[in-house]
Amino acid sequence: MEKWARMKYQPCIPLGKDRSCVTGSKEHIAVSRRAACEGTVLLKNEKGTLPLAPGSRVALFGMGQIDYVKGGGGSGDVYCEYVKNIYDGLRESGLSVYEPLSEFYRERVAEAYKKGGLYGRLREADVPKELISGARAFTDTAIIAVCRFSGENWDRKADGSDPYFELSAEEKKTVDAVCADFPKVIVLLNTGAMIDTSWFADNGNISAALMIWQGGMEGGLAAGDVLTGREDPSGRLTDTCARSISDYPSTAGFYESPDFVKYTEDVFVGYRYFETVPGMKEKVVYPFGYGLSYTRFEIKNVRVSAADERITVTADVENRGERPGREVVQVYFKAPEGRITKPARALCAFKKTKKLAPGETETVEMSFPVSDMASYDDTGAVRRSAYVLEAGEYSFFVGRNVRDAAEAGFKYALSENVTVRVCEELCAPERLGRRLTASGEYISVPDVKRVRRTYPPAPVPGQKEREGGRALLSDVWEGRLTLDGFLEQLSLEELRRLTVACGPRGVANTDGLGDMKEYGIPAAMTADGPAGIRIKRQVGVATTAFPIATMLACTWDPELVERVGVCCAREAKENNLSVWLAPALNIHRSPLCGRNFEYYSEDPLVSGRMAAAIVRGVQSQNIAATPKHFACNNKETNRKESDSVLSERALREIYIRGFEICVRESAPDVIMTSYNIINGVRASENAELITGILRGEWGYRGLVITDWWNTADRTAEVKAGNDIRMPSTMNDRKTPFVDVVENKNTRAELVPCVRRLLELILRLD
Ligand code: BGC
Repeated sequence: MEKWARMKYQPCIPLGKDRSCVTGSKEHIAVSRRAACEGTVLLKNEKGTLPLAPGSRVALFGMGQIDYVKGGGGSGDVYCEYVKNIYDGLRESGLSVYEPLSEFYRERVAEAYKKGGLYGRLREADVPKELISGARAFTDTAIIAVCRFSGENWDRKADGSDPYFELSAEEKKTVDAVCADFPKVIVLLNTGAMIDTSWFADNGNISAALMIWQGGMEGGLAAGDVLTGREDPSGRLTDTCARSISDYPSTAGFYESPDFVKYTEDVFVGYRYFETVPGMKEKVVYPFGYGLSYTRFEIKNVRVSAADERITVTADVENRGERPGREVVQVYFKAPEGRITKPARALCAFKKTKKLAPGETETVEMSFPVSDMASYDDTGAVRRSAYVLEAGEYSFFVGRNVRDAAEAGFKYALSENVTVRVCEELCAPERLGRRLTASGEYISVPDVKRVRRTYPPAPVPGQKEREGGRALLSDVWEGRLTLDGFLEQLSLEELRRLTVACGPRGVANTDGLGDMKEYGIPAAMTADGPAGIRIKRQVGVATTAFPIATMLACTWDPELVERVGVCCAREAKENNLSVWLAPALNIHRSPLCGRNFEYYSEDPLVSGRMAAAIVRGVQSQNIAATPKHFACNNKETNRKESDSVLSERALREIYIRGFEICVRESAPDVIMTSYNIINGVRASENAELITGILRGEWGYRGLVITDWWNTADRTAEVKAGNDIRMPSTMNDRKTPFVDVVENKNTRAELVPCVRRLLELILRLD
């Protein structure tokens, strides 16, 4: 096949065995189901309620059994051939379901849709008493399905007007009625973000609960697999379940203003807050990292050692129960108290065992650089604008979740402060006001007016007409011409055109990159994610809908997540798409954020490792991955104009740390900036972020693109190092962007952007 043939000719060439299609194939759907099983988290299991014996009789309550939410809405949605809901899953796993009750819900769901009800947001039906008694006569086991939907461009409310975190009054009524009659009650949570868990954790009548997340097109089957014990629930939480939405420190200011959000909790996000700030431990229902299994594991012989500036942790994990299963060993550290306030725990390594048979033991080994334990000093307490390890003893905690992790004997001791990396003050706030410390006290932060750094471009040669006419990009690919030589022939207008997306081709609906026929520059099409390849329904190509990113993260299994990446890349390639707009790795700062389902965790290490796994999988197929949204897009309301105000330390240690890990571990081809503003400067125009930190400090060599239809100034974006404006049209989605844009960039500013674009296209098939 000729280089770029897929881009140029859009052929129909299936990638599977014997020319079968891989898109939406059985093999890919099997990976989706596997990931859904592995990401399911068992939160509660008393009196040996689960797993259910084969053929058990169950009564299934809740609209969510039919109106199952496979994933979230907006660009993160995926069109697949079918969706297996919870009812289907239970039936297909061999359970005997009380049909009249499920029939009742099926009718209520159909009626609600007819009346304009929205997917995943239907009002819970009032179950007639006779149906409850009929169900009770049929079985002593009730399963309640609770579903939640959320999507792009809107957030959930904390005031009860749109219950997401809490149960609605109607849901409570169903729960009470079921608990009054059934001796065994099991809860299934079909959600894209943390919701209230205290209502069943504290309720003696509810004996089991599974977090089944939004598990993709076969999520219902995966729920059946786990309920019946065909699969052990080996998922572990990647967020903290707190008792009430008001317990999360981000809630109070979330809706303070449409124009800004102040991240005053600083680095104390998620478990870093709950495990550190006095009195907050009690607010946790299920801690970060938590999840039960049907078998019992013992983590023993924990050994921690230091050599060559690395910490190594080994532990033996023994399956002491009666069923096969996998355990996740988690390592946390605590840095010494010093001048810089610090969280009591921070995750530094993790490892999931293979499937261990009863009686089997595996020795897991994990290692990480000492420098990972450094804090960023943004006040000059030790050394200003540097990552520092303060003198003292560093302790390590190993176990199955942040609360359970027991202190290991070994301490890493430093007799003096060590500077790990000297940086420069970048993206610092002007008006944060105050920031939280480990004691729970806020300290005030004075307002500062900042002059932002600019990065003048290096000079480039002027345009040169080539003797013998235009060269083609294939001349560069075939070694007849250097890329610099190729760039020299492009006019300012041509350079400018190339820094704006090109229109769609084939099945694409999110436009593409490149496209200049006269120079043989092909068009590399993009497609959305991250729960699969998003091709519009009307095109007629059904792709595989994978579990949401949060559920993938809950597998704690980067190899499995990498396989998901491989599948998605193959589906992209088969459909002649070149750039996948995934993974998405913003931090779960608040359960209210409408797009949490697309993101992995409240923890940057988990986020970064999962994103890196996806990128590795995707790019192994010569498809470009696009980690997004860089950075601090943690609220959807007014997302294009909202200013995320935060300390430089929180930015570096929490919000961009995952991106840093991803860049260093997997070298993504493309990064997408976010819509929002960061400390007064729009992310897409943020030279300190893009050129200073991403390219300068982390050595990122790839392409940077904007998010779609942002409201930024294109000239400023190019000056900041943001290479391509997406998509090809203006905000009205009709006017082509290049025809109206007033771009004042110089040749020297544009050439590096186009060079990076062409380097990407040269890397693609
Ligand atoms: C989203 C991006 C997405 C893009 C293209 C935007 O609204 O924020 O995540 O990739 O649209 O669909």
